[in-house]
Amino acid sequence: MKSQNIVAAIDIGTSHIIAALAEISTDGDIVPIALSQVSSRGVKKGGVVNIPLVQHTIDSALEKLQQDGSYHIYSIITSLSGASIMGHNADGTVELKGTIAEHNIKQVVSAARDLSMLESRQILHILRQSFSVDKQTDIDNPIGLMGENLSIQVHVISAAKMAYYNLLQTFSHRDIDIEQVVTSGFASAVAVSTADEKQLGVCVLDIGAGTTDVTVIHKGVVKHTEVIPLGSEVISNDMAFFMRTTVETAEKIKQEIDVNANYIASETIEVQGLSGTTRHFSKREVSEVIQERYHQLFEFVLQKLARAGVEMLFPGGFVICGGGAEQQGLDTLLMKKSQLPVRRAMIEIPLKDRTEKGSRFATIMGLFMCAYEEDLTRIMKDEEKTGIIGKLTDVLAHLRKIF
Ligand SMILES: Nc1ncnc2c1ncn2[C@@H]1O[C@H](COP(=O)(O)OP(=O)(O)OP(=O)(O)O)[C@@H](O)[C@H]1O
Ligand SMILES: [Mg+2]
Repeated sequence: MKSQNIVAAIDIGTSHIIAALAEISTDGDIVPIALSQVSSRGVKKGGVVNIPLVQHTIDSALEKLQQDGSYHIYSIITSLSGASIMGHNADGTVELKGTIAEHNIKQVVSAARDLSMLESRQILHILRQSFSVDKQTDIDNPIGLMGENLSIQVHVISAAKMAYYNLLQTFSHRDIDIEQVVTSGFASAVAVSTADEKQLGVCVLDIGAGTTDVTVIHKGVVKHTEVIPLGSEVISNDMAFFMRTTVETAEKIKQEIDVNANYIASETIEVQGLSGTTRHFSKREVSEVIQERYHQLFEFVLQKLARAGVEMLFPGGFVICGGGAEQQGLDTLLMKKSQLPVRRAMIEIPLKDRTEKGSRFATIMGLFMCAYEEDLTRIMKDEEKTGIIGKLTDVLAHLRKIF
């Protein structure tokens, strides 16, 4: 990836598909060149549910992208989300003969991978946490050390194989090689957390339309990954039901409400109902509906973190991103609920003719950072890439043989 300067990335989300081109320097500086976003179709709760619809949306996004910069796209980095994504901590050990060298690192990563392999799961990332040599733990770089056994502790992020293949299928109609598949939550987490936050401990929440992706980073390494199949669209749906209006109208109203404001009882909003009649709702009441839903989501997140035993690992607090994080007052709401600092991440993408700004650009930015991969995520690779599409063709041939 590093020899290629222009990188194409596509974030396949429940509400948006965002495609972008960026020039990445050998130092990892990312200079965005073009960006397009289209409304997503055929994606539910982060997962592909209708391949032709997603293919059509990808085509629209790539066509729009080419209007900004006339590049031919041969390969792409893409995101994967959905409830099938899981993270777990694992380790691997190998015996040593002499001084530890690069090939021992590959062997020990392979050992950790082998222990984490399951027939139904696709491993997407093996992220280094630390090494141990014999009884000496917490080693950052063991090269050159001597010992009898080398162990590695890793965080493995995987997806259901079928969810992964469904994503790959959405590119099968185009002559594009998929360079990397990166989980959305992981991409967002590397994009929005600062080096200090990662060191101290931070929990990144990417609140999208269909999912909330949770990533805990502590002492610079990923400790926990979780995808909660609940996002901000459920709030617009509830509001539409409550106000008997369209989801589009509810969505607009949601964006005007500050969930931390003290609205006085007489402050109202006019809502066009489904039958064409106009009704008035108090802003306070509408704000309470939104707050209630976010309270439930945050409660769920906090419970999951406690169950995973990682609730004490992020004294740096939460960083929120994803379109849902743009809800006015949401940072304060989470701060009150968790009693931890909360920061809303805003990503700016300067382009030739405009600057795009928003929390929803966290994933696309993270995809570019993962393309550069300068240890920031501690991605470990233990095998040469043979081309994902090539592997997909093998799998499809195999599936055809079975059925
Ligand atoms: N200003 C705003 N106030 C409140 N909510 C907002 C605002 N802007 C966007 N949203 C919400 O953000 C959500 C879309 O976020 P985003 O684009 O990050 O989702 P996505 O990546 O398509 O979905 P997912 O990651 O869940 O697959 C929508 O549900 C929308 O209601
Ligand atoms: Mg998203």
